[in-house]
Amino acid sequence: MSRQLLIDMAKHNIQHCKDGTVARAEAVCEVPAAHYYDAEHWQAEMEKVFRRMPLMLALTCEMPDPGDYRACEAGGVPILICRDKAGEVQAFLNMCAHRGAQIMEQGNGNTHRFTCPYHAWTYNHQGELIGIFSEKEFGQIDKSCHGLRKLPVLERAGLIWVIPNPDSDLSIEAFLSGYDDMLAHFDFANWHLFSRRSLPGPNWKIAYDGYLDLYHLPILHKNSFGPNFPHKSMYYAWGPHQRVASPDPSLLEYEGVDEDQWDTTRLLSGVWTIFPHVSIASFDGGGRGVMLSQLFPGETPGTSITVQNYVMEKEPDEEQAANAHEQFAFLEKVVRDEDYATGLKQQRALETGFKDHVLFGRNEEGGQRFHGWVEKLLQTEDSDLNNLFNGAQGPSF
Ligand code: FES
Ligand SMILES: [Fe+2]
Repeated sequence: MSRQLLIDMAKHNIQHCKDGTVARAEAVCEVPAAHYYDAEHWQAEMEKVFRRMPLMLALTCEMPDPGDYRACEAGGVPILICRDKAGEVQAFLNMCAHRGAQIMEQGNGNTHRFTCPYHAWTYNHQGELIGIFSEKEFGQIDKSCHGLRKLPVLERAGLIWVIPNPDSDLSIEAFLSGYDDMLAHFDFANWHLFSRRSLPGPNWKIAYDGYLDLYHLPILHKNSFGPNFPHKSMYYAWGPHQRVASPDPSLLEYEGVDEDQWDTTRLLSGVWTIFPHVSIASFDGGGRGVMLSQLFPGETPGTSITVQNYVMEKEPDEEQAANAHEQFAFLEKVVRDEDYATGLKQQRALETGFKDHVLFGRNEEGGQRFHGWVEKLLQTEDSDLNNLFNGAQGPSF
């Protein structure tokens, strides 16, 4: 079913190549410039987007074994994700039941149990409190009521989503709108996290706009990889999640070829974004790989942090690893010195307040849809969240 959708998108692409056309949005759209810097608006985004939406926070392949864990922070919430003995992924607030200390340092590891560094209260992989230091002196409490608070979590397509709110009843499955079935074609569960780094950038939406935009490639990136890249894009949406693909004339060679023979890797080209903050772009450096970027708002409206993960289909040998490092270093430089350097200056310019709106053209439907979803979420009550995603579907042709 989902492979058929990959084929249908390729056919849609082929048709546009033959016609010399490209799919476009209905109209040029305006987005208030203040949405990139206004403190109140930003605060609302933190609460209504980053504290309510499922966020893709970890990869299956970075925590394949029981006891593997990853501690991180998202939406200002300290989070602990682990794999339990049964192989299920669990997620908790990384906050001790005693006096709220963060139990695990940010990063990855493997452990039999989680021990708080403050007074050594101890929890198992289910988050149950299993040990209180000097328990007799502490006094009697019901241990079963003092476990770590669970967060909603879902592992799909080799990726792990967590909602940074223990009280959320949003269905992560509904939110994904079938997009996870598409991402499953990458088979990320069996890939390899080769390298990870983070870099600072401008407002998270200024940064994210760039991942939805092929329009800038031959211009801003003219001195790096851009001259070889097409600037035309077509967008395919599953609820708020979008694939960005460029018209690819090389697909014409599939005409008349049995669809079973169409190479899945080629059908997955382009950028796969996961709302609200992830982008997955394919690269070949030392072997097939993707740069999976996770964007997080910084401490202020004008800042963000991007975690760049270089994920490879196969663990590279020494020579491939050297090439992969080179490719990843190149991508980091492009994003830092071209995308984010431009974004930071754009941020300063917008913050003057002398511009009312920025524009997204008919060729920038991805940005239009992204900003539309952010605004829609700001207007949506908690009780209506599930309705917002229920029934959202992928593209049809
Ligand atoms: S705060 Fe964790 S044991 Fe005291
Ligand atoms: Fe770019």
